[in-house]
Amino acid sequence: MFHPLRVRAIERITDDAVAVTFAVPAELRETFRHTPGQHLNVRYTVDGEEIRRSYSICAPAAEAPAEPVLRVGIRMVDGGAFSTYALKELAVGDEVQAMAPMGRFVLRPRPGLFAAVVGGSGITPVLSIAATLLSREPLARFCLIRSDRTAASTMFLDEVADLKDRYPDRFQLVTALSREEQSAGLPSGRLDRERLTGLLPALLPVADVDGWFLCGPFGLVRGAESALRALGVERTRIHQEIFHVDDGSAAPATARVASPSDSTLTATLHGRSGSWPVKDAESLLETVLRSRSDAPYACKGGVCGTCRAFLVSGEVRMDRNFALEPEETGAGFVLACQSHPLTPEVELDFDR
Ligand code: FES
Repeated sequence: MFHPLRVRAIERITDDAVAVTFAVPAELRETFRHTPGQHLNVRYTVDGEEIRRSYSICAPAAEAPAEPVLRVGIRMVDGGAFSTYALKELAVGDEVQAMAPMGRFVLRPRPGLFAAVVGGSGITPVLSIAATLLSREPLARFCLIRSDRTAASTMFLDEVADLKDRYPDRFQLVTALSREEQSAGLPSGRLDRERLTGLLPALLPVADVDGWFLCGPFGLVRGAESALRALGVERTRIHQEIFHVDDGSAAPATARVASPSDSTLTATLHGRSGSWPVKDAESLLETVLRSRSDAPYACKGGVCGTCRAFLVSGEVRMDRNFALEPEETGAGFVLACQSHPLTPEVELDFDR
């Protein structure tokens, strides 16, 4: 369900990125209280076309009864309708529609050692995670390894520097720039699997890390995951969120299998059920959206996880999945925007 929020502040944080803060009315405070790492799905109409995007919340999580700070980082994406709009036209006082914060790439503050490998705008949710953790949990430590193209394109430089000043003994920062040399930090170059496999054990006791948070472009996240697995880290300690999937480099979509031509989808959404025929080649999300405009989605690309639904019966194939963990698919969850029926009858439950 969407709620109207007004833009309270817009700050330019790099040449191609802004931080946008939304005002939260008193009656929506609990609705918009986020767990560090979650994102906000926003909806806006540009030139008559409805645009939906998900943006991670960068602000630390506020504890009740304080007003939640809904500040998101938005980087200009080539051809990205909302990011272009946000950077060029969005103004203080404008209204956008937003869903309550969601997402499972989260860390609730607890004692321990945590680490993150992030690239580009992947810093956004991790900034909220690290800032909340360090301020609320005196027995927690955090190591941030970040990769950016250049210093000028690095988002939230000041906020990260502030963490270093505030928590010198508990916050470790390692930066790598892929396209320029820096006076401190790592030599320039990308953080790929080979480099991380050698680097991580030199930076911190890998086996003692209680949780790893990987966030950014597909190549960096998959490379970091592969390095950690090679270093013996259990998969259950690795949390990941992919921000951009470059279709040329991403894992191939599953081979296309013909769907039965007369499949019927039954779906439950917000307590109401309906059944509809699935049209040729459309995803199950599109089938639902034809009759139920309240079906949840943001990216329609298998990345954000907003369209997650429980497969009650029948079988589906997913074109691609960059959002659900193996435990979730194993438990029966699918991404509706990527799912196509393999059986004449399929039933989804969006409420679980
Ligand atoms: S809408 Fe983003 S994964 Fe389906």
